[in-house]
Amino acid sequence: MSFKTIANDPNAALLRSFRNDFPALSYPMNAKRLAYLDTASSAQKPKSVIAAMDRVMQTGYSNIHRGLYKISQDLTAEFEDVRQSVADFIGASASREIIFTRNTTEAINLVAQSWGRTYLKAGDEIILSAMEHHANIVSWQILRDQIGIVIKIIPLNAQGGLDVGAFQKLLTAKTKFVGVVHISNALGTINPVEDIIRMTRAHDPEIKILIDGSQSVVHAKVNVQALDCDFFTFTGHKLYGPTGIGVLYGRYDILEHMPPYQGGGDMIERVTFEASTFKLPPARFEAGTPAIVQVIGLGAAMDYMNKMGMDTIAAREAQLNTIMLDGLKTIKGMKIFGPETARTGIASFTIEGLNISDVASVLDQCGVAVRAGHHCCMPLMQALGVEGTLRASLGVYSTIDDVNQLIAGLNKAQEMLA
Ligand code: ALA
Repeated sequence: MSFKTIANDPNAALLRSFRNDFPALSYPMNAKRLAYLDTASSAQKPKSVIAAMDRVMQTGYSNIHRGLYKISQDLTAEFEDVRQSVADFIGASASREIIFTRNTTEAINLVAQSWGRTYLKAGDEIILSAMEHHANIVSWQILRDQIGIVIKIIPLNAQGGLDVGAFQKLLTAKTKFVGVVHISNALGTINPVEDIIRMTRAHDPEIKILIDGSQSVVHAKVNVQALDCDFFTFTGHKLYGPTGIGVLYGRYDILEHMPPYQGGGDMIERVTFEASTFKLPPARFEAGTPAIVQVIGLGAAMDYMNKMGMDTIAAREAQLNTIMLDGLKTIKGMKIFGPETARTGIASFTIEGLNISDVASVLDQCGVAVRAGHHCCMPLMQALGVEGTLRASLGVYSTIDDVNQLIAGLNKAQEMLA
């Protein structure tokens, strides 16, 4: 390899030891060592998360919020402790601002159908960005088709980042909502959400702002109060936790004036056949038996990350990302998408003359897992002028060996397919 390595870095051993926390990484793929570089799609789970979920199901499982007996009350307390841990993890002012959802997608749909459908009217404008995941596009298109709102899009600039100058011009007297992804899952670009929020507040403090933090909570410390957003969303399975659990943060003074998103058990005060009354948030937005075991798993995942330290995670990942980008640049015909600066451990690329699915298949045979396609961001791919890209994404368990295996696999793809 012609690119530098971190083999002599005193922290390299520490980095490797994180891999040992993730049992699934010790299983080969196609009889090769698994180089799992698809963390942006879904992260592997550490032993502590698996053990926490196992413990709940093996010892003292029950429904929560309903039982007058000890195991239900204990599990209710543990479940609500995780709500507080989430609030602490993202810097919310209180646990009542944390709503458990199925994932980010459901969190955004909740905002669109509860807040949006109540407070927006035909002709009102909302602003999204060219980098949004389908979750933050389609939810608003459904609402547009229901009530006639207008969707405007922040375009890309020449460097492939969001054009903040163009954003300023999109703000009008009709703008009521701005929704932007914090870190692009498709490119790894860290968006200037602080600038976007500041400009929005200066234009009209009443505009509501949603930040999709699915990738940002994974890569760096987030503080929703310092950010000054109204809504913030993320998902558990990208944060080394289980699938089926996501989070919507909302400012309480906004949440308390939003109607329920779904109706059912646990969100009501009183039900008759004529009418029902509802609990205060967050219970109002959590109809039915929640994802109890998954919430406990999410709590263990945040504990794991807190133990590692977000600063360590961010620093190690930045170092490994530089090494990965340097390695990718040694591949003939390599085109890496997104701005050079302000990026995290995600590399999105194409190789001139090679089909991305064919390259992904060669990598698969080499034990390397990457994603090839549109990454749930078709409009972004259209803006970049491609059908899709190959995406290699790092996690806390990624090592220099994973990067070496990727680069070797890409060289092999060149030999076989060019
Ligand atoms: N949104 C996930 C991804 O980025 C599935 O691949």
